[in-house]
Amino acid sequence: MSVTAQDRDRAMDAANGSNPCAGSFGALYSFYIERRRLSRVIGGLAWGIDSAPLYGSLTALETVPDRSVILDVPCGSGLALGHLRPSQRVSYLAVDLDPRMLARTADRAERDGLSQVDCLRADVTELPIPTSAVDLCLCHGGLHSFADPAKALGEIARCLRPGGRLLGTTFVGPSNLRQRFLFSGLQRRNGLPELWGAEELADELTRAGFTNLKLGVRAGYALFDADRFGRGR
Ligand SMILES: C[S@@+](CC[C@H](N)C(=O)[O-])C[C@H]1O[C@@H](n2cnc3c(N)ncnc32)[C@H](O)[C@@H]1O
Repeated sequence: MSVTAQDRDRAMDAANGSNPCAGSFGALYSFYIERRRLSRVIGGLAWGIDSAPLYGSLTALETVPDRSVILDVPCGSGLALGHLRPSQRVSYLAVDLDPRMLARTADRAERDGLSQVDCLRADVTELPIPTSAVDLCLCHGGLHSFADPAKALGEIARCLRPGGRLLGTTFVGPSNLRQRFLFSGLQRRNGLPELWGAEELADELTRAGFTNLKLGVRAGYALFDADRFGRGR
């Protein structure tokens, strides 16, 4: 392994220290998020949200045109792969900082015969992806998990082609009591920043170069759908 690759791995291991899904919570999360009914119960009881928009939005994957490049960051345990078929002729880059989460995605891709999926360990703020290479980026459950969400959005915008689509979900403030309790623990333990409010999320998306924003917010949980500014293909 070259020194550069070792340095990169070390930097990612260090960044993983602020990752709330790097430990046992990641394993628990992976278990329930794959089970839609259980996930909706846990989403309601623990977080006070309805996670239906997350599952609904994943159906966008089913109709992407052939030859599309899809970036799924953070891919977590590969939830979105449930909406990809082996016959879809797309290039699917599944990216996550945590090697255990990524391994779950790789296992799932193999189990489901999804040979178009490449799994890549990377920090969302430094994606090893060429500029304007991506047609669709999924960013579910990411912005509230990232140490630097503004930098993450900037890097995602760089990777998307003009007219490319960003689709994601995130918690936003002001939170309900349960969310405040859970997030204050994560913020203390993992050094994560305060949640953005809905307006701040919209401003940050604009600042990063997104337009045509559709934003749905309910009980502190947001679904966003936006295009990378510029003329599409
Ligand atoms: C709540 S999970 C969401 C995963 C998946 N999109 C889903 O909806 O199930 C958050 C993920 O963000 C990843 N993560 C945290 N910080 C990251 C970073 N800086 N770069 C890339 N991934 C990161 C975690 O490892 C975890 O898998």
